[in-house]
Amino acid sequence: MREPPVKPIEWLGDCVRIIDQRELPGREAHLEIKDAGQMAQAITTMAIRGAPLIGIAAAMGLAVEAGRWMGSGWSEFRAEVEAAIAALGATRPTASNLFWALGRMRQALAGGPPDPRSACDRLRAEALKIYGEDLETGRKMGEIGAPLIGEGMTVLTHCNAGGLATSGYGTALAPMYVARERGVKFKVLADETRPLLQGARLTAWELARAGIDTTVICDSAAHSLLARGLVGLVLVGSDRITLDGDFANKIGTYGVALSAKAAGVPFYVVAPTSTIDFKLKNGSDIPIEERDPSEVTVINGRPITPAGVKALNPAFDVTPAHLVTGIITEMGLVKQPLAAGLAKLEPPRG
Ligand code: MRU
Repeated sequence: MREPPVKPIEWLGDCVRIIDQRELPGREAHLEIKDAGQMAQAITTMAIRGAPLIGIAAAMGLAVEAGRWMGSGWSEFRAEVEAAIAALGATRPTASNLFWALGRMRQALAGGPPDPRSACDRLRAEALKIYGEDLETGRKMGEIGAPLIGEGMTVLTHCNAGGLATSGYGTALAPMYVARERGVKFKVLADETRPLLQGARLTAWELARAGIDTTVICDSAAHSLLARGLVGLVLVGSDRITLDGDFANKIGTYGVALSAKAAGVPFYVVAPTSTIDFKLKNGSDIPIEERDPSEVTVINGRPITPAGVKALNPAFDVTPAHLVTGIITEMGLVKQPLAAGLAKLEPPRG
């Protein structure tokens, strides 16, 4: 397979090297993560983020932690690994991929001789497999979604569902990379994505790097641009999809979906099957992460609200299935009615 557009995470054996996404676009800084505690911290503080990538990061964080084990007792080793799984699982509640990846790692732990050395090998192999599968998955979603992008079209996206949110191809941005490779000329409108500006900082960074014509807009501009007929297609990622087809994504996605529906613009979710929560019926049961209000009230160290004023900071919202035109997974395009299409998908191992 060809090189992905971005490399946000790399397994170096004794550590995991990640791009510190908080520093983008100003500088491309890296962190070397040496244990599960450091990885949990990197995920919580959003040095590394994006649903598929936090699953991969947690798996690699666990494997690097296991590799540091010096003892020989199986039950102590197991207890240490279980404690690391609990710490990594407590970082961010919304994205299914995190729990799916940790589930696979737990199966790898149990799936062989009860010996710390061989279990370390299994954990490392499983983490690398999750990473490799995500690369293939991203590419496949890109190939399935690329034909939706027509010559001269303007595509709108929200947050960052690109290489920086995955192993390297992305979800919603993967069809854009493939369309670009195929010579299609199109433009992208990237919602800035308050409060942490993943659209302005990260989506714009990776698309501009790939030579894709990108314009950043304020989140509030998306709705009138859709209404004025200036957008031909909306592509977004997801953190969790339920069996009814409702889905969670970055706060603001629901509003974009409503406006796309009102304007008659096709609205697609692009996500791997590891984002589908095969145990959850509808969106009202998705846990929504509430982040620190200071992410809303402080910009670049400067308060933007009067002292003592409260702020709410839900990191995600839930878009109901009826606003979605289709869901692109690595297994193909799921069309309306989404519940019937999702029911035909095989849950990924994990
Ligand atoms: O809070 P973040 O930056 O982790 O949120 C990311 C998103 O909402 C993405 O759209 C989602 O994870 C899909 S990424 C492929």
